[in-house]
Amino acid sequence: MKLTVITGSPHKKGTTNLLADQFIAGAKVAGHEVVRFDAAFENVKPCLACEYCASHDGECIHKDTMNDLSKQLVDTELIVFVTPLYYFGMSAQIKAVIDRFHASNAKIAGNKKAMLLAAAYGADDWTMEGLEKMYESMLCFLAWEDAGKLLAIGCPAREVLEQTNYPQQAFEMGKNL
Ligand SMILES: Cc1cc2nc3c(=O)[nH]c(=O)nc-3n(C[C@H](O)[C@H](O)[C@H](O)COP(=O)(O)O)c2cc1C
Repeated sequence: MKLTVITGSPHKKGTTNLLADQFIAGAKVAGHEVVRFDAAFENVKPCLACEYCASHDGECIHKDTMNDLSKQLVDTELIVFVTPLYYFGMSAQIKAVIDRFHASNAKIAGNKKAMLLAAAYGADDWTMEGLEKMYESMLCFLAWEDAGKLLAIGCPAREVLEQTNYPQQAFEMGKNL
C-alpha cells in the first residue's frame, strides 16, 4: 500500500515523532511504501482563502513544498496524521497542511483511508475529544475511511512515552495494516 505520513511536531526527538518512527518501521517491515512529510520542517504557507485554486484546476497560488505533497496525496491510499495535542486540537504546523487541502479537495476526496496518532500531556478521558471530533469531521467531509487511532494520553515528553507501550502499539499498527 502507498502511505503518506504527515507529522506536526517541531520536536524532532519528541513524543509524536517517536510514534511516527515506530509506525513507519512497522509499515516497512510489512512491505508498504511510505512517504513522510514533517510539516514543521517544510515550507507550508497558510491558506489565503483567495480561491485562486477554484479557477486554476486546483493549483495553489503559493509555490511551496505543499504543492509536492498535494500531488503525492492524489495517489496515496492511506494518510496518517501524527500530531501533538495543542489546545485540544492539532498543532498549527499540521493544520496548515490540512487547510491547504482546500485547493485539492476534489482530487483527493474518496477512496482513501486515514489514521490518527497523537500524544498529549493530559490523561483525562476527555483529553483527546476535540481532536477526535475534528479528525472524524474531516474524514466525513473527504469521504475517507478511518483505519485506526492511537491516542497517547499522559505523555508530556519522550522519556515518559518510552515507558509506555504506545511505541509498540504504533509499530504494530504499521505492521498490521
Ligand atoms: C502549545 C502547546 C499546547 C499544548 N496543548 C495541550 C493540550 O491542550 N492538552 C494536553 O494534554 N497537552 C497539551 N500540550 C502538551 C503536548 O501535547 C505534549 O507535551 C506532547 O507530548 C508534545 O508532543 P511532541 O513532543 O511530539 O511535540 C501542549 C503543548 C504545547 C507546546
